[in-house]
Amino acid sequence: MRAPGDLARRSRTEDIVMHLRVRRGVTAIADHLRAVARPLGLCLLGLAACVDATGGPPTGATCPPDGTTLTYDSFGAPFMATYCTRCHATTLRGADRQGAPLYHDFDYYGGVMAVARHIDEWTGAGPDATNTQMPPDEPAPSLEERQQLAEWLACELANR
Ligand code: HEC
Repeated sequence: MRAPGDLARRSRTEDIVMHLRVRRGVTAIADHLRAVARPLGLCLLGLAACVDATGGPPTGATCPPDGTTLTYDSFGAPFMATYCTRCHATTLRGADRQGAPLYHDFDYYGGVMAVARHIDEWTGAGPDATNTQMPPDEPAPSLEERQQLAEWLACELANR
């Protein structure tokens, strides 16, 4: 005959086993989400190892006294098209943005200038900082291109 206490103890043990099983299941799901999300660059429920969530410091780049030869047509637009608009574009929705935030669209001049300082802090290079958080993967701009980006943005901002 089993004492009443045994039964109580057993169900407590079963509870703990169940609980562990559930927890293991949740962990497995989280691992799975992470594995799926990482290559896509997605941030799912804060579980994924996302792109570094903060930008760097301002580069300190300034517009040269004589101005710059870089223009939107000669530099800004092709730079964005080469390195940024496969994620940051008005034409991309949902998963096609690969996690790029809404309202950060760099396929038109106004979209770039709306967040010009952010772009400097995530992608630019200058006397105070070299910021390489963006783009998160290849192809990535050279150091010289990052310096040109920061200079071009500084001149555009100075001329507003
Ligand atoms: C492969 C896709 C991809 C490419 C290419 C890409 N980005 Fe991003 N971008 C992201 C993702 C994902 C985030 C969100 C990162 C985060 O918040 O942790 C992001 C965030 C940013 C932010 C910060 C937005 C904010 O919240 O302040 C800026 C600025 C930015 N990107 C600029 C650029 C620039 C400039 C380029 C091109 C040089 C670029 N990105 C290329 C995916 C991309």
